[in-house]
Amino acid sequence: MTYIITIAQQKGGAGKTSLAAHLAATWSIDKGRRVALFDLDPQKSLTHWFQVRSEKLAEANTMSLWPSQGWRLANELTRASRDADVIVIDCPGKDDLGTRVAVRAADIVVMPVQPSPIDVWASKTTLELIAKEGTPALIVLNRLPSRAKLTDHLIVDLKRGSVPIARSALGNRISFAASFVEGKGITETEPHSVAAAEIKLLADEIWRKVSSAGRRAAA
Ligand SMILES: Nc1ncnc2c1ncn2[C@@H]1O[C@H](COP(=O)(O)OP(=O)(O)OP(=O)(O)O)[C@@H](O)[C@H]1O
Ligand SMILES: [Mg+2]
Repeated sequence: MTYIITIAQQKGGAGKTSLAAHLAATWSIDKGRRVALFDLDPQKSLTHWFQVRSEKLAEANTMSLWPSQGWRLANELTRASRDADVIVIDCPGKDDLGTRVAVRAADIVVMPVQPSPIDVWASKTTLELIAKEGTPALIVLNRLPSRAKLTDHLIVDLKRGSVPIARSALGNRISFAASFVEGKGITETEPHSVAAAEIKLLADEIWRKVSSAGRRAAA
């Protein structure tokens, strides 16, 4: 059984690539799962992270990165699933053909949202795409301040929608970026940090959701 986790959000800079890398590292290192990555974003940030990782870890890097183009993605996912327990797809900051295929093929779409009005409003297009494809999804609050009235108000707005909000949120933590430049996940560089605890909780929450839902029929 291979689970496909698509990280999508048309708002740029929401935290898609960061989430993809840290979740992938957690599943690979902490859980020993075989992870395949797809980087659909022309910026190729996840690819860059993977290249640094491959150089630094050499054979110890057990993840694979797959080439991907929008129209060939469905076939490539089928091939990748033969040797992977989990496929993590990083989408670009716009809902293009590749994103649509990735949302359709996913067992779950994970959508990072930063708790600011601009980010919440800009999430609408991705939420509509998720609804259209009928894929289970989870909103992840990213860079969440510990206390803010604005945040509370925005969360109430988000909760009115049909996509549930993950119980595990991520704080605004510089250590996420620091481990990213080393080609690593936070659970590898600072395993006992608050940031690592947040990612582990989120990784477990997503895993519980997909494994309890079982594999969706291929689209
Ligand atoms: N929880 C966090 N705490 C601190 N910084 C964060 C956090 N999440 C993301 N960032 C930072 O925010 C910036 C944008 O994150 P990232 O590149 O992951 O977003 P993205 O959604 O992939 O962007 P794009 O749409 O351009 O692909 C990066 O500099 C990243 O290090
Ligand atoms: Mg990105």
